[in-house]
Amino acid sequence: MAKVAVLGYGVVGSGVVDLFYKNKHQIEKKAGEEVEIKYILDIRDFPDSPYKDKLVKDFNIIVNDDDIKVVAECMGGLEPAYSFVKACLEKGKSVSTSNKELVAEKGAELLAIAKKMDCNFFFEASVGGAIPIIRPLHRCLGANEIKEISGILNGTTNFILTKMINEQMSFEDALNLAQSLGYAEKDPTDDVDGNDACRKICILASLAFGKHVYPKSVYTKGIRDIALKDVEFAKAWGGSIKLIGSVKKLDSGKIHISVEPKLVPYSNLISRVDDVFNAVMVVGDAVDKTMFYGRGAGKFPTASAVVADLIESIKHDRMVFSQYWGESTDSNYVEEYCKAQSRMYFRVDKMNSDLFGDVEYISADDNDEIAFVTHIMCIKDAVKLKIKLEENGIKVKSMISVLDID
Ligand code: HSE
Repeated sequence: MAKVAVLGYGVVGSGVVDLFYKNKHQIEKKAGEEVEIKYILDIRDFPDSPYKDKLVKDFNIIVNDDDIKVVAECMGGLEPAYSFVKACLEKGKSVSTSNKELVAEKGAELLAIAKKMDCNFFFEASVGGAIPIIRPLHRCLGANEIKEISGILNGTTNFILTKMINEQMSFEDALNLAQSLGYAEKDPTDDVDGNDACRKICILASLAFGKHVYPKSVYTKGIRDIALKDVEFAKAWGGSIKLIGSVKKLDSGKIHISVEPKLVPYSNLISRVDDVFNAVMVVGDAVDKTMFYGRGAGKFPTASAVVADLIESIKHDRMVFSQYWGESTDSNYVEEYCKAQSRMYFRVDKMNSDLFGDVEYISADDNDEIAFVTHIMCIKDAVKLKIKLEENGIKVKSMISVLDID
């Protein structure tokens, strides 16, 4: 019988325990043996929980119990999760985590320990909630050279944008609702300012290209500056504005990586992904475009991925080598953000066709402002254009790049 411990009994941890007992029979069939949750670690008291006999407050009970071969980490945040996960891996216990911050900051180090101890550090739940993306990326798409990964990687911001646009809900009300549904991070500014999506694109980039990409090296902008006028112009142009995490492999061997709101044309399925749903497009040299879609946050969608990893850990008690990347030593690996190329959307307060150049104008009803989309240009040149317009008395109210996937 496989004995499991769950670290953290919050939204995701309680989802893992509830889902495990709901589908225990099927989970055991998939794992190929009986499975039991022996411990649940949390410093809080849960006197009404049906699993209160399993609750412990001392991590040492778990790490020193040789019966425990597999651990699910659902605490979130860097500490104490990092110390606990490291200690488990150093004892040869496989770990399955939903913790994006942990994987994005410490993934290379923890994978190296797992490799040394011949156990597994799995993190399917860390990107895209319920969406199977980590395992498909390194297994099903393992024969491909990955060219690009782009998508909606944060459920909370997509939920907020959808509620604001479709139901005219205020930003604050939409955020409060996302929090009450268990979607948002402990500190929801991590969602709103793009840090959560940044961690996720770092994890995907690290896995796809084999070198750890740290969040601090990624240009990151959240959704705070999106105005309803931009949404209206986007609709009139034939697209939606979405918070997009994106990474592209360049011929030079470097990567372009960013998190920012982008104008997504309706011809791209990502533009139609609403609510808490996430969507990730992966482009490979053999498969061309593939799309992964599902609930990006929430108790059971996230628990689904954690429990699947527990099953994998029980079945594969040796290290799975395809799910590995190394430490990054090349500080030039991430190309400067301003060198990226894109069509650009501008919203300005005055017309001046001489300064705008050869652009595609967008006409929207009831709008006293001007919006246009440029041809493909370097971000650096887009910034120069913005400065030139402002020097000529034109206020640039928005500048957003377009998501064009080749
Ligand atoms: N706060 C995250 C989101 C949770 O909204 O996507 C899932 O990672």
